[in-house]
Amino acid sequence: MRAVDIIAAKRDGKELSREEIEFLIGGYVAGSIPDYQVSAWAMAVFFQGMSALETATLTNVMLRSGTVMDLSGIPGPFVDKHSTGGVGDKTSLILAPLAAALGIRDPMMSGRALGHTGGTLDKLEAIPGFRTNLSIEEFRTILAADGFAMTGQTKEVVPADRLLYALRDVTSTVESIPLITASILSKKAAEGAEGLVFDVKYGSGAFMKEAAQAEKLARSLVNTGAAMGKKIIALLTDMDEPLGNMVGNFLEVEESLDCLEGAGLRGAPGPADLMEVTLELGARMAVLGGKAADSKEGRKLCEDCIAGGKPRELFLQNVKSQRGDPVKLLELRGKWRSPVSAEIRVPESKVRERYLCRIDAWKVGRAAVALGVGRNRTEDPVSPTAGIQFHKKSGETVKAGDVLMTVWAAAEEGLKTALPQLEAAVEYSEKIPPERKLVLKEIRPDSVTKVRGTM
Ligand code: URA
Repeated sequence: MRAVDIIAAKRDGKELSREEIEFLIGGYVAGSIPDYQVSAWAMAVFFQGMSALETATLTNVMLRSGTVMDLSGIPGPFVDKHSTGGVGDKTSLILAPLAAALGIRDPMMSGRALGHTGGTLDKLEAIPGFRTNLSIEEFRTILAADGFAMTGQTKEVVPADRLLYALRDVTSTVESIPLITASILSKKAAEGAEGLVFDVKYGSGAFMKEAAQAEKLARSLVNTGAAMGKKIIALLTDMDEPLGNMVGNFLEVEESLDCLEGAGLRGAPGPADLMEVTLELGARMAVLGGKAADSKEGRKLCEDCIAGGKPRELFLQNVKSQRGDPVKLLELRGKWRSPVSAEIRVPESKVRERYLCRIDAWKVGRAAVALGVGRNRTEDPVSPTAGIQFHKKSGETVKAGDVLMTVWAAAEEGLKTALPQLEAAVEYSEKIPPERKLVLKEIRPDSVTKVRGTM
């Protein structure tokens, strides 16, 4: 077999066999097939696409390039949630202890902030002492004891994606649905969960800007996941505005804790948008974990469970298991902020506009990077205490002079850059804006045809 023939076949729109995909990906990871040939192949995939079978095969071959978490000996069911990334998205911090309280184990491997999107690991590391670099044995022990464990991906997890993603990044081949599917799903499948709920976001702060594009990705993810033997559901959710009232690492931990104490639940004061998305995702985790017959029942189960207080207890227990300090966390709550701060108010020029109609998530995400919440390059440090608190969200009435946001920056320079970006993120209107639909659609697999060599 020769790489050049595989590239030519894909260039001409042919379906690649399992053996050809194994040869190409295996050779790339082993170093016998060079970057330039894999770049050419990735561009051919970009233009020609891949069949459902090819995508599932590529995902499976990539998954098997590294270690797959062995969860044997720990009772399931195992279900995880994955989001395609956004601004203020802290649903994982609420969902993992919630699922655990429902009797579902959540083996969660997460990522870091990059570009305008936040990362679960950076949020967790804002908790004093919290470790996210667990060994496999530590991960298994904590998962068995607390019902969930949260860690970063080790170098051994899907090495093929590490190489391929870096190559796609510099060859303009990231935006390919089959390549994105294989990249995301191979890493998620490596966790060993049998059930996966995908939160595929659309809107300015999402990876996919348009709902139609997000739906294509969601369909590809659920169909490929099903072909790999996973129970899988995706929700299309709105990421045009940041989720919740806080953006920032420690701030988002605090907001998650508020939600675990009932904020935003069943009409209670708090981030209703964040709770809506969280509960809809939690409902699907309950369905996939066999705890509810349908999402309506699952949602009620989640609401009752949070109201009962067990998820909060498990969250704090897990903080301790992962070497964080729950006492310090509760002491710092509401107080630990960067010393450089400012307020953003409704400008005096907005005398006629009575409503806040949009806060652009992408602009907020970029401002958050300037403040020190996120990073432009993977090696950049982040600040635990920088961030933004929204005092108003879209749909609320406003008048000139109202405080809209409090902003904390790691350094004066960052504040200077972020303030105009945040001001520009806010849109006003004279008329009441239409209500935002936070969960647009649920997507389930079309049919299930398992690929060879899957679990
Ligand atoms: N996120 C991933 O993990 N992979 C992609 O290809 C795109 C987004």
